[in-house]
Amino acid sequence: MKETTGARESFGSKFGVIAATAGSAIGLGNIWRFPYVAGENGGGAFLLIYLGFILLIGIPVMLSEFVIGRAGQQNAFGSFRKLAPGKPWYLIGLMGVAAAFMILAFYTAVAGWTLEYIYQSLVNGFRGKSPAELELMFSDFQSGSFRPVLWFFVFMGLTAFIIMSGVKKGIEKSTKILMPLLLILLLIMAIRSVTLPGALEGIKFLFKPDFTKITTKSVLEALGQSFFSLSIGMGTLITYASYVPKDNNLGGTALSVATADTLIAILAGVAIFPAVFAFGIAPGSGAGLVYITLPNIFQQMAGGYFFSLLFFVLLGVAALTSTISVLEVIVAFFTEELGMKRKAATWTATALVSILGVMSALSWGALSGVQVFGQTIFGILDYASANILLPLGGFFIVLFVAWFFGRDNARAELGNNGSVRTGYLPFYIFIIRFIAPLCIAFIFLQGLGLIKV
Ligand code: PHE
Repeated sequence: MKETTGARESFGSKFGVIAATAGSAIGLGNIWRFPYVAGENGGGAFLLIYLGFILLIGIPVMLSEFVIGRAGQQNAFGSFRKLAPGKPWYLIGLMGVAAAFMILAFYTAVAGWTLEYIYQSLVNGFRGKSPAELELMFSDFQSGSFRPVLWFFVFMGLTAFIIMSGVKKGIEKSTKILMPLLLILLLIMAIRSVTLPGALEGIKFLFKPDFTKITTKSVLEALGQSFFSLSIGMGTLITYASYVPKDNNLGGTALSVATADTLIAILAGVAIFPAVFAFGIAPGSGAGLVYITLPNIFQQMAGGYFFSLLFFVLLGVAALTSTISVLEVIVAFFTEELGMKRKAATWTATALVSILGVMSALSWGALSGVQVFGQTIFGILDYASANILLPLGGFFIVLFVAWFFGRDNARAELGNNGSVRTGYLPFYIFIIRFIAPLCIAFIFLQGLGLIKV
């Protein structure tokens, strides 16, 4: 079974590949995490550094994952083992599976918040509330002990349900319709936000770089955010690439996905920061930023009831197309390496993730006193996965392609054995041999304070 690649599922069309991959990349990382991390790290300068990392490091790491997954035709662990039999490279895949558990746990907790906000939109719960009251509403909800956990389980269940339906019917079909819709809605929100009185301050905050606010730690956060947002560094895209048809132009797909992901993050910033300043919310408010800001905008919009409902539904969907990609990493590993059936694998993974997930969901409530390295359980999962595990994973992934898999094999995979042009190859190889690994290593060690230059 393991060697018969014909028995594996695959994505059906070119647009299906882009929709599924962009579906993984675009999610809470763009709309929830990007604004809150950018807000905590000074805004404009952070955005600029982030964009640099997407171009210089993110896209090459993404391409490398595509190469590994489509050449390997296996889950993240199995692909390394197949391409490098008897060598320890498969440890990268194992680290990816571990990262998947951590990310899925805290990410699904935040995704659960969207369900609460869909409910609040439905019952018109934001109406007539002042900015301060909306802030209180969020922190009351977040520090509760029942609803965050309930919504976590509902969201986890939805994710498991789609994953059980498989790759083509489950993953591809749902992403194809919903991602374009999200883009349109975000555009409308951005327009409303920039036309609020006092919006200009927010635009300045987001686009006017002030490098005095940048520390070595915020550079690492920009790197971590770029990896998190592109879904790279932990084998999600290795797993997805193993379902990509052999005639797909991987270079073109990587470029489209990275562009779409970056546009959505910037658009989210344009929707959020003008409103943050217009309503007097602190840009560094942390993980609740989006949930506190957006209801204020909806109150100021014609048709706010309708838009808030639609928005939180789509945010939930964007999160869902990302959670399924993370769960798929674990499920593909369980089925192909441990010989489990897809259904059993999904249930086992879901049960295991839920342990950490419930702890994340309770990080502002019952477990708010539990600290790991000075952070809540949620905080440490969020920080460590994005800023430690993903950069480490990305570091080894590029080294693997550059120095082990090699230029000729990479050319064959990216060029579909000569039928697609790969003029970018020398540039790509140079980056993954030297620039990307050196940059990642340097930023990583500096950001964690392990070296000082
Ligand atoms: N990229 C997703 C987002 O921005 C999150 C994610 C991270 C998904 C890592 C898969 C792997 O929402």
